[in-house]
Amino acid sequence: MAKILLTGAAGFIGLHVLERMAKAHEVVAIDNLADFSNYEIKLKRLEYASGGEVAFDSNNKLKSTRINLSKLDILDEVRLQKLFRDEQFDMVIHLAAMTGIRQSVEQPDIYEKVNVRGFFNIIECCRKYNVKRLLFASSSSVYGNCQDVPFTETSNTDTPLNLYAASKKMNELIAHSYASLYQMQCIGLRFFTVYGPWNRPDMATFTFIKNIEAGVPIRLYNSGNMQRDFTFVSDIAESIQRLTGKMMEGNSSLAIPYRIFNIGGGHPVNLLEYVSTLETLLGKKAIIENHDLQKGEMLSTYADCSALFEFIGFKPVVDFTNGLAETVNWYKKHRDIS
Ligand SMILES: NC(=O)c1ccc[n+]([C@@H]2O[C@H](COP(=O)([O-])OP(=O)(O)OC[C@H]3O[C@@H](n4cnc5c(N)ncnc54)[C@H](O)[C@@H]3O)[C@@H](O)[C@H]2O)c1
Repeated sequence: MAKILLTGAAGFIGLHVLERMAKAHEVVAIDNLADFSNYEIKLKRLEYASGGEVAFDSNNKLKSTRINLSKLDILDEVRLQKLFRDEQFDMVIHLAAMTGIRQSVEQPDIYEKVNVRGFFNIIECCRKYNVKRLLFASSSSVYGNCQDVPFTETSNTDTPLNLYAASKKMNELIAHSYASLYQMQCIGLRFFTVYGPWNRPDMATFTFIKNIEAGVPIRLYNSGNMQRDFTFVSDIAESIQRLTGKMMEGNSSLAIPYRIFNIGGGHPVNLLEYVSTLETLLGKKAIIENHDLQKGEMLSTYADCSALFEFIGFKPVVDFTNGLAETVNWYKKHRDIS
C-alpha cells in the first residue's frame, strides 16, 4: 500500500481515480473546489464519494470517515508545503488543472497560473520532500496541428493551438527536467476526450444529451466534420491504477525516469456519428446548428496506445457505443446533478 497525494479529486476524472485508488492505497486528496466552473457537480461528487453531506472543519478538511479530502489550492505554497512535510507521500497523482479549451481562449492568465505555476509548486514540493514518483495529467491537445495520425508519443508537439495545450506541454518539459536532474520518476498521461458518468457539464457529452432531450439546438462546429478519440473514464482509472503499481515496483523510479503515454480509445469517431449514436440512445433527433470551426480547436485526435500497452499490458477497452450507453443511463438517473 502506498501513500498517495491525489490533486483535483473533486473533478470528473479525480472522482473515478479516487474511488479506484482508495481501495488499494492510502489516498490523501485535495481540491480547491473553485467556483470558476462546474461548482455544483463538484459538491455532488464529494457527497457521493463521502456518503454524506459536504461540510469542512476549521482546517478545511472534509468531515468524512470515508475519504480524506481537504480544500487546498495548489497555488497556496505555504499550505502545500506543510501538507508535503506532514504527510511524507510515496507518490503524487496530479490531476488538478484549469480545464476547458474554450475558456482558456478567453482567460489565458488563470490557465497559466494554475496549470504552469500550480504544476511547478507540486513538482517542486516533490523535490523538496523527497517524493520520487509523480504521475500527471497532460492532454491530447499538445498535438495541436500535428498531421501525423494516429498520434504517437514521438509525434510533433511544437504547435499547440491554445494556452491550455501549451500549459500541458510546459508540464511535460518541466517534468523532463526534474526527472533528469533529481532522479524522480515522472509519467505524463495524454488523455484523449474522456467521457462517462459524472462528466464535466461543460463538455460536449452532457451538453448534447441535455439539449437533445430538451429539444434545444446543439452547436456543431465545422459542420460536425471533426473526429475525437473518445476514452471511457473507467479505462483512465484502470490505466492509472496499473501505472501506480508499476511505479511503486522496486527501484523502477531510477530505471525509467521520464515517460509520456497516450491514453485514448484508439478509434476516432466523427462528431456526426457521435450525435447519431446519442439520438439512438435517447430516442430523439437532435436539432443541429452549424457553426464555423472555433479558434483553438483541433480537427482530429487519434491515439496510438501501443507504448502504454507495452508498459502496463493494458490499453482502453470500452467500446464507444457501450460507454456512451452507460453514460446516457447514468445521466437519466442523475438529471438533477448534471
Ligand atoms: N476530461 C478530459 O477529457 C481531459 C482530457 C485531457 C486532459 N485532461 C486533464 O485531466 C485532468 C482532470 O480533468 P477533468 O476532466 O477531471 O477536469 P475537472 O475540471 O473536472 O477537474 C479538475 C479539478 O481540479 C481542481 N482545481 C482547479 N484548480 C485548482 C487549484 N488551483 N488547486 C486545487 N485544485 C484545483 C478543480 O476544482 C477540479 O475539481 C486535468 O488536468 C485535465 O487537464 C482531461
